[in-house]
Amino acid sequence: MAMAERARIFSGVKPTGHLTLGNYLGAMRRWVEEDQHRADALFCVVDLHALTVEHEPARVRRLTRQAATLLLAAGLDPERCTLFVQSQVDEHLRLSYLMECTASDGEMRRMIQYKEKAAREQARGGSVRLSLLTYPALMAADILAYGTHEVPVGEDQAQHLELTRDLAGRFNERYGATFVMPKVTYPAVAARVMDLQEPTSKMGKSHARTAGIVYLLDEPEVVRKKVIRAVTDTASDVVYERGERPGVANLLDVLAACTGGDPERLAEGYASYGALKRDVAEAVVELLRPARKRHAELAADPAYVDGVLRDGAERARALARPRVDAAYRAVGLMA
Ligand code: TYM
Repeated sequence: MAMAERARIFSGVKPTGHLTLGNYLGAMRRWVEEDQHRADALFCVVDLHALTVEHEPARVRRLTRQAATLLLAAGLDPERCTLFVQSQVDEHLRLSYLMECTASDGEMRRMIQYKEKAAREQARGGSVRLSLLTYPALMAADILAYGTHEVPVGEDQAQHLELTRDLAGRFNERYGATFVMPKVTYPAVAARVMDLQEPTSKMGKSHARTAGIVYLLDEPEVVRKKVIRAVTDTASDVVYERGERPGVANLLDVLAACTGGDPERLAEGYASYGALKRDVAEAVVELLRPARKRHAELAADPAYVDGVLRDGAERARALARPRVDAAYRAVGLMA
């Protein structure tokens, strides 16, 4: 990249459930506060990825618009960045097929998220969709189609990003330099926000048990209740130990992310879990307040949101098309 050129950033969120505090602290907040200001940034509601598990069509459509609305409410500015919906830009699927032709069956089956989700589907008695296995090929296509330099995500995306880099390198080696090698970036704190009821698992938007998940659109009273009931441990002094005391460490991480402090240092200021929880609850409520308010206004104007998404898709298409065409030609297709 030439010095004067702005970095290209791409990231996405999957409309499989209501967006959570994990999504916000792990990803969205940086998109809003930093990325859209310093780079040529694209943010995508990746609706095709939501079809990899059992889904209800009307719900996916609703959640897609809700995610886009929340991203705008949180502060993404369509004048500064490109916000769009994945299925409205065909280039993702065009390139995904080439990624499937670049990846091996074995490396797809090694993906932790595939193994976990496939096991969950099977336990429910459902079948595992083939698209769940090929998901990382589509994710690689999302990123590589745009010549992306940086991908700001939470820590749970590490393995998929590693695979994306492998695929980019392999494709370039086989067929000539076509893709930019993307770099992954994580937030300094709260790169993995844990479930408040099960502090050894990630706070995930599609989990069935919701008591440990703070949704961005939860009422303040609901947020408070969830935080106050967070599972900690039987000790009573407040120290930051991720391995031994995951529940307390998670609360300290969230507090640090909200207030800009350091989790270990913050721990020193508390003599009891109760006081810590009260402060975390208030910090989260305050953090989410402006986006909640703005969301209510924007949700009343779906035509505006749809217009933003239409413009975004058009811009994204124009950016992706030449590179995807080049990739088609490189592998021997008559693009
Ligand atoms: P998704 O929808 O699960 O999550 C969106 C973003 O939120 C981050 N995140 C978290 N960060 C910290 N703690 C948590 N508990 C937490 N939960 C979620 C995720 O790391 C992510 O950055 N595969 C992706 C979507 C995707 C994508 C892409 C991302 C598809 N194509 C291309 C980047 C680039 C996913 O399922 O994200």
